[in-house]
Amino acid sequence: MKKILIVNASKRRNGNSHTLSKRFAEQFEGKAEVTVFNIGEKDVRACLACDGCKRQHTPNCVQKDDFTALIPEIDSCDAMLILAPVHWDQFPAQLKAFLDRTYSFMDFTRPDFSMAGRKDKKLAGYFFAGFGPVDVYTSMVETNLKSFATAGFTDYKAHVAGDANVPGSIMDKPEDLAAADEFCEWLLA
Ligand SMILES: Cc1cc2nc3c(=O)[nH]c(=O)nc-3n(C[C@H](O)[C@H](O)[C@H](O)COP(=O)(O)O)c2cc1C
Repeated sequence: MKKILIVNASKRRNGNSHTLSKRFAEQFEGKAEVTVFNIGEKDVRACLACDGCKRQHTPNCVQKDDFTALIPEIDSCDAMLILAPVHWDQFPAQLKAFLDRTYSFMDFTRPDFSMAGRKDKKLAGYFFAGFGPVDVYTSMVETNLKSFATAGFTDYKAHVAGDANVPGSIMDKPEDLAAADEFCEWLLA
């Protein structure tokens, strides 16, 4: 069975990231081993840029928080699914902190700069924006998702659902739900 890590990177308790993460988890039931990481309930601190991880030569981090505890899960999963809002045209701060912390996987002595245990993992980024058109956000999301390659996520897909301010409104958007269903199939394949 595939191991899939779902990161709900919205702090809105019943927002669209939360709503869709629950739908994904239901669809994965019995087909994948799923871990859900709700960032709003977790302590994910900013990277200290201390280079402690570089001295250890493991992806471990010297900080002791919920991100550090998740590192083995990030390294061993087959796929990660991130659901998040767009904040001021960018990754929300809590997800940027999460991305920054994957710096612990970086190894400057290796040709691909990565000490990830696996380098063939899939990454799906499903984002929500209050407004549209969403093309401008899609390129921002893709640019950021590329940085997860250091943690071994070399194959990625992105989708941004616009007009998504109302919590739970994603369930009334057939085209965006179809995109979620495609993600689901791809992540399980
Ligand atoms: C601080 C903040 C900044 C935001 N910036 C943008 C933005 O730049 N563009 C946009 O379309 N929506 C923006 N929004 C709206 C959210 O992206 C939108 O409500 C999204 O659907 C929330 O997703 P969630 O329900 O999963 O939290 C912003 C919301 C907040 C709170």
